[in-house]
Amino acid sequence: MAAALMATTAFAADPFPADLRETALATFKALPSTTRALANNPITSEKIVLGKALFFDPRVSASGVFSCNSCHNLATGGDDNLETSIGHGWQKGPRNAPTVLNAVFNIAQFWDGRAEDLKAQAKGPVQAGVEMANTPGQVIATLRSMPQYVEWFSAAFAGEADPVTFDNFAKAIEAFEATLVTPAPFDAFLNGDDAAMTSEQKQGLTLFMDKGCSSCHSGINVGGEGYYPFGLVKRPSTDVLPEKDKGRFAVTNTFDDFFVFRAAPLRNVALTAPYFHSGKVWDLKKAIAIMGTVQLGEELKEEEVELIVAFLNSLTGKVPDVAYPVLPAETTATPRPVS
Ligand code: HEM
Ligand code: HEM
Repeated sequence: MAAALMATTAFAADPFPADLRETALATFKALPSTTRALANNPITSEKIVLGKALFFDPRVSASGVFSCNSCHNLATGGDDNLETSIGHGWQKGPRNAPTVLNAVFNIAQFWDGRAEDLKAQAKGPVQAGVEMANTPGQVIATLRSMPQYVEWFSAAFAGEADPVTFDNFAKAIEAFEATLVTPAPFDAFLNGDDAAMTSEQKQGLTLFMDKGCSSCHSGINVGGEGYYPFGLVKRPSTDVLPEKDKGRFAVTNTFDDFFVFRAAPLRNVALTAPYFHSGKVWDLKKAIAIMGTVQLGEELKEEEVELIVAFLNSLTGKVPDVAYPVLPAETTATPRPVS
């Protein structure tokens, strides 16, 4: 009787299917234990050191105010926790900043996938008028004016006659970003540790798969792998999906890509409010309920939403220790900031 009671209690405490891990592994993948290799950009410790300095250096922006870390703050989930980012001259940009954490695993970068990888991406913000408002020539002049940067570029791109280039700037940042991966309880579970996730988190995972969320949010980043209409079943309200942002249509010019966006990667989603490319939704529960209605045509029950939140919490990982770098000193040749 006591044994039967214990067995029932144990079951009640952890009611998840015995094959949950196997089913999950057919859809998701744990983070690898080594840094992912990059196309045409071998990762070295010299490149990582340089890339980290560049990521934190506000002098690559025209105003000398904005670094990559301003909008992708590694202390707050790799984003800026604003509806849409504030950049050069206090301008408000059109979209919410996604996290740089684990971005290396996305099929392509940006909400609309317009940059094929992180090195292509890194050239964008520097030149964007609403972000850093700089030019490649000015960035290179700035970096060349500081002997310590010239040394770091020479070490990272040894053997190149002219190592301080905009391409190499982007490659170094990409190498640093490739190290920004955050192993989470979900990875430990996928790797075989039953105790890594709570009972609620496992029930949430089951629901996430059964309801069909994982038909779009799958793979290593639980999203970030494919493009879908935002509003597959029902168009979201215009504050959540403003009409002027046509999503992937701007990239492909194909009518079918109207309001198509990359399924958001959901690792660390608990840290990256507000949600959606418009940044209009601050509450994760509300974001999940909207997904239920607009992508699946289903009103999720309050308990279901809570279990899915629990699962999404198991995607909050350990951010690598990143010591704030001491940056090279300016010289009289360093271009002065402009407002
Ligand atoms: C997107 C890195 C500077 C705001 C991204 C993404 C990456 C990234 C990797 C794509 C992430 C994804 O698609 O999941 C960088 C780097 C920077 C930098 C390396 C420095 C060179 C900035 C700054 C701002 C900013 C200064 C704000 C003023 C944004 C926004 C997006 C974005 C709004 C989304 C844009 C869109 O999808 O159209 N950034 N970023 N970034 N970043 Fe940055
Ligand atoms: C965005 C969760 C189903 C495609 C999001 C976000 C969350 C989420 C939390 C916002 C993430 C962020 O802003 O960082 C869920 C859940 C689902 C579900 C819990 C099941 C109930 C789906 C399905 C699809 C899909 C079935 C594809 C048909 C997308 C897309 C975005 C997104 C395209 C980006 C929307 C935008 O442009 O802002 N999802 N999702 N999702 N999801 Fe889902």
